[in-house]
Amino acid sequence: MMKETADFIFRGINSPVEKAEYTWQSPSNIALVKYWGKKGDQLPANASLSFTLSQCVTTTTVKFEKRDTDRQNLQLFLDGKEQKAFGQKAFSFLDKIRGFQPFLQDYHIQIHTKNSFPHSSGIASSASGMSALALCCMSLEKELNGNVNSDFFYEKASFLARIGSGSASRSVYPKFAMWGQHHEYANGSDLYAIQVPEKEVHKDFHTFRDTILLIDQGKKSVSSTAGHSLLDKHPFRDERYRTANNNITELKHILEKGDIEAFGNLVEQEALMLHALMMSGPESFILMKPNTLAVIEKVRNWRTETGTPLFFTLDAGANVHLLYPESAEPKVLEFIQNELIVYCEDKNYICDNVGEGPQQLKP
Ligand code: PMV
Repeated sequence: MMKETADFIFRGINSPVEKAEYTWQSPSNIALVKYWGKKGDQLPANASLSFTLSQCVTTTTVKFEKRDTDRQNLQLFLDGKEQKAFGQKAFSFLDKIRGFQPFLQDYHIQIHTKNSFPHSSGIASSASGMSALALCCMSLEKELNGNVNSDFFYEKASFLARIGSGSASRSVYPKFAMWGQHHEYANGSDLYAIQVPEKEVHKDFHTFRDTILLIDQGKKSVSSTAGHSLLDKHPFRDERYRTANNNITELKHILEKGDIEAFGNLVEQEALMLHALMMSGPESFILMKPNTLAVIEKVRNWRTETGTPLFFTLDAGANVHLLYPESAEPKVLEFIQNELIVYCEDKNYICDNVGEGPQQLKP
């Protein structure tokens, strides 16, 4: 049954907890139909659909200790070092979700977090980071309440993660996830993401690859928060939302059928539309770099020459995500080594694939 905001308010403590520690490893995800533009309280202007990655993960331990002092201690350690500025993002997230988990204010909270990918790689850590944190908070809720079933656990983790970063809502599920109301997905909700049922995804997509070419490892020049808000005033806004929702319908059928060529066509259009919106908006910005375009051209030419199903997508940055079926892997890796690695900063790239979702490592 579809839930409403009020369904996510914590219902009460059955067993008190003085001290607890939870560790979750949560992955990033790559959107195929992009979320770009929001409304209300971090709700999506259109539905989006992604697959969860396997290697790009954040591992987060949260230590909760019941407090009897007035002042709440909040600390965040990234790679073992305390980070005050970076911590503010996490603390403001905890503040925002307090209405749904009022018990959070009863504890001193210490967060220890690390990413499997380099911090400055240009890979957004918000999806993996916020989902890992939300999952740790849900573990405490589960212990306090004692009455939380698995479906609710992940739905609420997705609901909370969404409040931190929209795309994080999709990271709590294995394989393919969608977020946003859409007529093709009866259970789809703007409040939280759902997993696309595995039986609705052709087996060829279950092992799909995503090799991320790290074109520019600097910090993004425009935050996604700023990017989303620019869409409000964009002349193509309504057309974008219509197209994105139509693309969800199309992608649903493509995933079912296993039509890899149609898949590639759709995801490339989505990626280029995302960047075209950025470039053509009222405050224009360009996140692609010359090497991003060079890779795109190479990929398209090589695909035509060899007939190998290799496609690309982009998120809000210069890096290129190369998407291809497992069967094409040997050829694609050789192509990357021979022809694409020169476009990567310090020859860096990350081999990833459709993943199994978050994992609780402790307790
Ligand atoms: O979750 P945010 O606010 O970082 O936005 C993510 C936006 C894109 O990565 C460009 C698209 C998406 O759906 O993940």
